[in-house]
Amino acid sequence: MKNCDLIIHGASQLLTCASNGKPKRGLQMQDVGLIEDGAVAVSDGKILAAGKTDDILREYESENFFDARGKTVAPGFVECHTHIVFAGNRLGEFELKIKGADYLEILRAGGGILSTVRQTRAASLSELVEQSRRRLDKMLALGVTTCEVKTGYGLDTETELKMLEAILALDESHSVDLIPTFLPAHAVPSADFEAEGLSKEEAAERYTQIVCDEMLPAAAKIKERNEKFKDCFFVDVFCEKGAFNLEQSRKVLETAKWLGFKLKAHVDEFTNLGGARMAIELGAVSIDHLDAISDEEINLLADSETVGVVTPTVNFNFGSKEFADARKLIDRGCAVAISTDYNPGSAPCPSLPNAMAIACRYQKLLPGEAFNATSINAAFAAGIGERAGSLEAGKQADITIFDTPDFREIAYEFGGNPVETVFKNGKVIYGKK
Ligand code: NIG
Ligand code: FE
Repeated sequence: MKNCDLIIHGASQLLTCASNGKPKRGLQMQDVGLIEDGAVAVSDGKILAAGKTDDILREYESENFFDARGKTVAPGFVECHTHIVFAGNRLGEFELKIKGADYLEILRAGGGILSTVRQTRAASLSELVEQSRRRLDKMLALGVTTCEVKTGYGLDTETELKMLEAILALDESHSVDLIPTFLPAHAVPSADFEAEGLSKEEAAERYTQIVCDEMLPAAAKIKERNEKFKDCFFVDVFCEKGAFNLEQSRKVLETAKWLGFKLKAHVDEFTNLGGARMAIELGAVSIDHLDAISDEEINLLADSETVGVVTPTVNFNFGSKEFADARKLIDRGCAVAISTDYNPGSAPCPSLPNAMAIACRYQKLLPGEAFNATSINAAFAAGIGERAGSLEAGKQADITIFDTPDFREIAYEFGGNPVETVFKNGKVIYGKK
């Protein structure tokens, strides 16, 4: 018998989401590695083994048992795309949208992302950290153990770096691990260039230049001081009409790649500008949204290592009946992840279970596909697939206990919270001990 720190045993269902070191694609996405009457042994914050309760109890002993009878035991969720560091809210815009205003029109008129920019510039670092901490707490209560977070509401060097500092401070002080993404090319701060008499197009060119010459090199210095994010410090760009065109987006990502960042890109949220192809060709770790992706680009994605991230909460938030065709993506062999895109404008939603519920209903994913899309595939989309996202020997013991004997209920019920207990590195960080 080997001694270990913790044994979680008797789970009605244990989902390993084991994937042999790669994101799941195509038919593999249906396989959650389900073990009935499952158990997991943990030591030093890592998974030692996952299997049948009888087998685990034959091999391991511990002073610390967690009885998971009647429950589902699964990897903690990885949230691979959020904008949770921001100040204030967009409640006025919520009402405008109900009355029929369009998201990109609001942005063109200086609202939307730009309204959050004004609120974020005015906030101090500690205000920003404390407001964001509450959002992270909500996500933890909903089963998230790692969360990617983007900058993008500063749009000037000082505030973008303040946002990055806020992300790093939150990572230090919160039990959920954060993955930092620098997104200075999130919107064009045209008003900042009005005094110089620049048109919106000229402002976009000038701002892209500042991003590449000044902001990315400054963020690269912060990256170099933070060794722990070696594999997962990202730069992202919003390639969209009214934000950054294809050439500007390419320039940002090429500069970021040269500086040693991993790449992500918001593409095809509303308009296909060719961003998916460009980002895949540059080796992006993920491309996100994909509502307007073409069939040809879907084939490119399927043949690449890039993960396709869909954000069905955005479409739901817009009251839209149209969604990214995640069913087609999976059927063509792409590796698909699901994210909430938690942000104040297009998706004020902390709940991955709700994102799964929407994906199942509107994008026709099976609950198993949705679960892999928020665990192992999301971990690969966040650059940490090697160490998180599944219950495999050697990985972080990031484990969520769901208060249901059948995991399908996580997506079947919606609007509630199926999470009972969350373990991070083998320690309870939320719920019942
Ligand atoms: O992923 N599309 C750009 N960025 C976010 C929205 C941010 C906002 O509206 O504040 C998104 O949808
Ligand atoms: Fe986003």
